[in-house]
Amino acid sequence: MEIIIQPTPAGATRIAAKIMADLISAKPAAVLGLATGSTPERLYRALIAQKLDWSRLTCFNLDEYVGILPEHLQSYHHFMWEKLFRHTNISLGNVHIPDGLASDIPATCESYERKIVAAGGIDLQLLGIGTDGHIGFNEQTSSLASRTRIKTLAPQTRKDNARFFGGEEKVPHHAITMGIGTILEARHCLLLAFGDKKARAIAGAIEGPITAMNPASALQLHPAVTVCLDSAAAAELKLQEYYRRAYGQKSDWQKIRPAACRSPSPKQPGKLAAGSCQI
Ligand code: PGA
Repeated sequence: MEIIIQPTPAGATRIAAKIMADLISAKPAAVLGLATGSTPERLYRALIAQKLDWSRLTCFNLDEYVGILPEHLQSYHHFMWEKLFRHTNISLGNVHIPDGLASDIPATCESYERKIVAAGGIDLQLLGIGTDGHIGFNEQTSSLASRTRIKTLAPQTRKDNARFFGGEEKVPHHAITMGIGTILEARHCLLLAFGDKKARAIAGAIEGPITAMNPASALQLHPAVTVCLDSAAAAELKLQEYYRRAYGQKSDWQKIRPAACRSPSPKQPGKLAAGSCQI
């Protein structure tokens, strides 16, 4: 796992935006896994400003609330179109967001999984993290092998998201989310977290045991994970000085980069498998 700690969310976002932009330039038909919430908003603005070519990209979103219309101001369909897609030249047919209004939810979840496979799998999965360690809407005690399915939102998540809905009572109770097993199949996971409210979840995810009580800790099983943090979100990491030093001293070839951006380097000692350049 590559842990990148920057003084501010802006600094951490700059690095994440470069990772995504490098992938998009190197692999114009890449498959992106995208996230919603307040964390990636700055990243999306940074990508929009770069005027990249999105015409051949395919995108799969992590999750969507069940029972609210796509036009609802807090639906993730609305979020993605407003914050990202409408500012790019992405093809409508290449955008995939779970259908929270599907009449047959298990069937729509299975079909979502099949579409990811048919697209060739996700090259880069962007992730935020909940204050309880959830990724997507995989709440605490989610199976670490879970696939796309309906989840009941935890009280903490509904409380955390009440700020978007103008009251906890208005937050839906269910969501469709990619599973942890689905997320772990992405070739590269890019987790962003900012602010002191995320510090405990981040410490558990990176340094705690692998446990369904902190779903993000399952990322320890993945060979290519980059975590971009601001200092506040990193504050409870015991080894933060080590991570800072390790990242500061890394040569470019040693950093985790999306598969499409890796090329053999004469300086690269031995045969590093994709994503195996761990600190
Ligand atoms: P946030 O949510 O980006 O709004 O903090 C992250 C999450 O709950 O996954």
